[in-house]
Amino acid sequence: MATRTVDFRSDTVTKPSEAMRAAMARAEVDDDVIGHDPTAFKLEAEMAKIMGKEAALFVPSCTMANLISVLVHCDVRGSEVIVGDTSHIHIYENGGIATLGGVHPRTVRSNEDGTMDIDLIEAAIRDPKGELVYPTTRLICLENTHVHSGGRCISVEYTDKVGEVAKKHGLKLHIDGARIFNASVALGVPVDRLVKAADSVSVCLSKGLGAPVGSVIVGSNSFITKARRLRKTLGGGMRQVGILCAAALVALQENVAKLESDHKKAKLLADGLNEIKGLRVDTSSVETNIIYLHIEEGSGISAGKLCKDLEEYGILLMAMGSSRLRIVFHHHISSSDVQYALSCFQLAVNNGAKNENGN
Ligand SMILES: Cc1ncc(COP(=O)(O)O)c(C=O)c1O
Repeated sequence: MATRTVDFRSDTVTKPSEAMRAAMARAEVDDDVIGHDPTAFKLEAEMAKIMGKEAALFVPSCTMANLISVLVHCDVRGSEVIVGDTSHIHIYENGGIATLGGVHPRTVRSNEDGTMDIDLIEAAIRDPKGELVYPTTRLICLENTHVHSGGRCISVEYTDKVGEVAKKHGLKLHIDGARIFNASVALGVPVDRLVKAADSVSVCLSKGLGAPVGSVIVGSNSFITKARRLRKTLGGGMRQVGILCAAALVALQENVAKLESDHKKAKLLADGLNEIKGLRVDTSSVETNIIYLHIEEGSGISAGKLCKDLEEYGILLMAMGSSRLRIVFHHHISSSDVQYALSCFQLAVNNGAKNENGN
């Protein structure tokens, strides 16, 4: 039985700190659905300021933040959105934009660094002259950091370029910024500058920032007014939500500064894992808090078995297929956890290979 747990499953697994719990206990609250919760207002005003947008809205999850954002921008039936083919919105959000919003997704190939080629984006924009048969392109979505590519950062230069393309064609730009603070810290670009070209951004509070629940959408005043109405439609209007927003305010104050250290520790673990025979990490892709670990062919270990064996040592992570695993850092993981994890990986791989050879 392991005496220590190092939880790499996701950055969503963090527990609220004492300061968060204390802030939640003393939070001033009121009914937010009718627009009276002072702590929700405080969080929304703070987030709008940090992100350089007019207004903000607290929502229960980043999935809902993305859904509301797409639906506000595509509020006419027959709308189409350009999304990366490996984007979170396209793959992991139950196709909500289509099933609930009637919005048609037009996918463009996502590159390994999480970008889409600008010329492919432009080529995917529907010619309005073909409106008899085409849906109408209304929105482009980016994701920063890009989770499927291992938490890679989308640069400000690229974002600006996509913003220019959107403007040129009369489209809106939404950023799924579930981990936008990780990107801002890793790139060394202030977060408001990073999202300047965007009309709306979803920011997750319960991932790298370590708050227990919620996301915030930011955008113009008129965008947020429409988003508030849609939030209610979707059942995302919550009453004394200040309890959750109080924890998020602490997260904003205390945890943004910890992201750099999460990224350094991720790099350290990635380098160490690469030294273990049978394992491979593309260390150049580890830009923030996510590592994709590959098991080399012929090593005799499967991702599922490695995961199970590591669990015995208290190391928790996720298998993504038979030879790939995902490791995610958050502020509960210390430098000594990294060293402990490395020794456990080495042991698990040795034992796995031994069993495979019948020793
Ligand atoms: C990039 C990205 N966007 C959106 C989401 C959805 O967040 P939630 O689970 O809060 O709905 C996630 C969740 O992991 C994500 O990684």
